[in-house]
Amino acid sequence: MKTRITQLFGIEHPIIQGGMHFVGYAELAAAVSNAGGLGIITGLTQGTPEKLANEIARCNKMTDKPFGVNMTFLPTLAPPDYPALFQTIIDGGVTVVETAGNNPQQWLPMLKEAGIRVIHKCTSVRHALKAEKIGCDAVSVDGFECGGHPGEDDIPNFILLPRAADELSIPFVASGGMADARSLVAALSLGADGINMGTRFIATEEAPVHENVKQAIIGASELDTRLVMRPLRNTERVLNNVAVTRLLEKEKELGDSLEFKDIIHEVAGVYPKIMLDGEMDAGAWSCGMVAGLIDDAPSVAVLVARIMAEADAIIADRLTGIVNA
Ligand SMILES: Cc1cc2nc3c(=O)[nH]c(=O)nc-3n(C[C@H](O)[C@H](O)[C@H](O)COP(=O)(O)O)c2cc1C
Repeated sequence: MKTRITQLFGIEHPIIQGGMHFVGYAELAAAVSNAGGLGIITGLTQGTPEKLANEIARCNKMTDKPFGVNMTFLPTLAPPDYPALFQTIIDGGVTVVETAGNNPQQWLPMLKEAGIRVIHKCTSVRHALKAEKIGCDAVSVDGFECGGHPGEDDIPNFILLPRAADELSIPFVASGGMADARSLVAALSLGADGINMGTRFIATEEAPVHENVKQAIIGASELDTRLVMRPLRNTERVLNNVAVTRLLEKEKELGDSLEFKDIIHEVAGVYPKIMLDGEMDAGAWSCGMVAGLIDDAPSVAVLVARIMAEADAIIADRLTGIVNA
């Protein structure tokens, strides 16, 4: 399959693995890139420029294919050293940066000068258009279904993607709810140039997370996610658990007077406990509704090959058969 996304990033298949906190390590990014997609290391999980440089070097040893680094700008208590982290990405010879959470404009000149392609993740058409205007090479359009931060507009991908296709000139991938060949063919039909997957890539052999996390995704249905932090306008879609129930009760109890400090125990610093130690009730962790479509944890190579082969079959057999009937 050749799309504007495969051409832009020099990859074989139009499949991207979105940055994921405490999941997007070199092992997963390299596996996705080796399978012909675009793997992405999560910059802020590493935290310091030294650790990020080490992770990029590890990934370079595991693959000779292009891979990217995610840089997320979200409200945090202690802002990371962004200038040094971006310089580390440039020095590491990385060719793609995925930005998310806020406008990346101030970083574009240094990234462009280094020949780096920038894909910005957005949850609305207006933000996608802004990304195009400031010079991003592509966007990742995240629908309401997505794991992580879906924004505050609540527009699902069946509306958001064709709206993006109508307005954008730059290539874009569909993100949120993407799991299989059906998602890929649907996304291409709606005008996207490929797909970005988060939750689906966690349930793979190479994702370096605790087995409990993979089993939680496999065991979950499409009814098992919840939206938290909505009153703070920092909405996150997470898998339901006892910590999330506690958090939602707190939100209900405090209403408009809720502050971040009221829920800090359920959201701050919980990722290592969940992803690495497998303490599944340690706090709220991002997960997409797409968990309802995931019932195995294959290798990344098997997953990507399956998506591509089944997409060919859907187009050549099912769709062509319907058209020619
Ligand atoms: C566990 C987890 C952690 C995530 N962490 C980040 C992150 O640090 N930065 C970011 O831009 N997106 C993050 N995301 C969002 C993903 O990159 C991707 O956009 C999203 O998962 C797509 O929706 P899906 O899960 O339905 O595939 C995370 C998603 C998950 C499931």
